[in-house]
Amino acid sequence: MMERINCVILAAGKGTRMRSKTTKIMHPLMGRPMIRYVLDAARAIEPRRIIMVTGHGQEEVEGSLKGADISFALQAEQKGTAHALLAAEEYLAPGDILVLYGDVPLIQPSTLSRFIDFFRLSAGIAFMTTKVERPDGYGRVITDGTGVIVDIVEDSEATGPVKEIGVINTGICMIRADMLPLVKAITPDNRKGEYYLTDICKQARHRGVAVRAFLHEESAEVLGINTRRDLLEAGLVMRDAILDRHMEQGVTIMDRSTYIETDVVIGPDTTIFPHSFLMGRTEIGREVTIGPHTVIRDSFIGDRSIVEPFTSLNGVQTDEGVSIGPFARIRPTTVLRKKVKIGNFVEVKNSTIGDGSKANHLSYLGDAAVGSGVNIGAGTITCNYDGVHKHRTTIEDGVFVGSNTGFVAPVTIGKDAVIGAGSTITHNVPEGALAVTRSKQKHIEGYSRRKKCAE
Ligand code: UD1
Ligand code: CA
Repeated sequence: MMERINCVILAAGKGTRMRSKTTKIMHPLMGRPMIRYVLDAARAIEPRRIIMVTGHGQEEVEGSLKGADISFALQAEQKGTAHALLAAEEYLAPGDILVLYGDVPLIQPSTLSRFIDFFRLSAGIAFMTTKVERPDGYGRVITDGTGVIVDIVEDSEATGPVKEIGVINTGICMIRADMLPLVKAITPDNRKGEYYLTDICKQARHRGVAVRAFLHEESAEVLGINTRRDLLEAGLVMRDAILDRHMEQGVTIMDRSTYIETDVVIGPDTTIFPHSFLMGRTEIGREVTIGPHTVIRDSFIGDRSIVEPFTSLNGVQTDEGVSIGPFARIRPTTVLRKKVKIGNFVEVKNSTIGDGSKANHLSYLGDAAVGSGVNIGAGTITCNYDGVHKHRTTIEDGVFVGSNTGFVAPVTIGKDAVIGAGSTITHNVPEGALAVTRSKQKHIEGYSRRKKCAE
């Protein structure tokens, strides 16, 4: 535990450049609000306190992050990063202050640890810097050539050769407790009229305090998100890292178009074909094949299952060995038991399908309880909605449903019953019975000849 450290996360800004009604730090990155990553990094270094400064979207932010180990400080008016840090003052425990920015979400705990070690050898203030090709939008770091920062010039203030400087401020900095008066001395004399935390460098210079620059090589890790383009950039970096993590754990991924969100879990020897999207709280078993072109959200897929191309699964739970798709759509809350087969153009919603049952073609099963060993013929529809209410269809074990059947719910089909093709079932069918409702086939002999004569 880093006992002497207060970690302050600045997260009060609106993020105007996002042009969004959503507060910037709540925008999702690979399935989670970006602020969650910053908070996780902070937690990983085990500081004495974590204080998050909130303002814009305060209720939403605080509501989504609740936790006993975090205090929230309100910055009602956003007057700049120095002003934001001071909003956290009353929550600080004795000790050093590590400042993280809510919009720098890719930062890794190991980097923070190295930075903290570096800071401890400094005179009381250190900034994490990095070198980038396009420094636009960032504060430019001017050093004296010995690693001491002379000044940090914000993008909006930078002119001439300063604009060309490629070493930028990541925003991440450390300040020893006794240096807090320097933050208080910062004035808002700049174009935006904000209290810039980076102006602590000017204050330090006046007092002869050396501000140290820690140069972090991995600039992608300290990318700041101000615009939707930055959000995409960070998402791509994170997406690659997530793919690498799964491959290291024994998952085969065919190309980098695969999109797997942060919280997804995948078992070894599973293969994921291109353009597949695994989202939300999804867990995939081992030896599963997925895709290409498949979207799975908030689902649990059992071992040795196959999810064929162009399939959409949401809120599905399966046992092992199921086969789904191609072109299937399964919606919440559906449970597929062992070795179930759901084929092309089949939609299933809020249903349970028992062991080994099959619906191979062109069906809609909604609000249904289907037993084991059931065969659902092509074109079977559960008519679950009467225009006002939804009703359930129960199909017991071993039932054979002929093609083009309509079950007008509520209705129960007894064990081992057989439904003749083309039937519209409106009454319960007893166990073992054959139910047929279609009208008898009639033949009108010589019909085509008669028609011809009339012409
Ligand atoms: C800031 C740095 C810049 C650095 C860049 C790195 C300052 C003055 N500038 O610029 O040197 O290169 O980050 O990404 O610090 N915030 C508040 N309250 C406020 C203002 C901001 O909580 O009053 C929070 C924001 O929510 C955000 C973070 O502080 O998470 C940074 O603010 P932002 O306005 O994005 O600063 P940049 O212009 O990116
Ligand atoms: Ca920023």
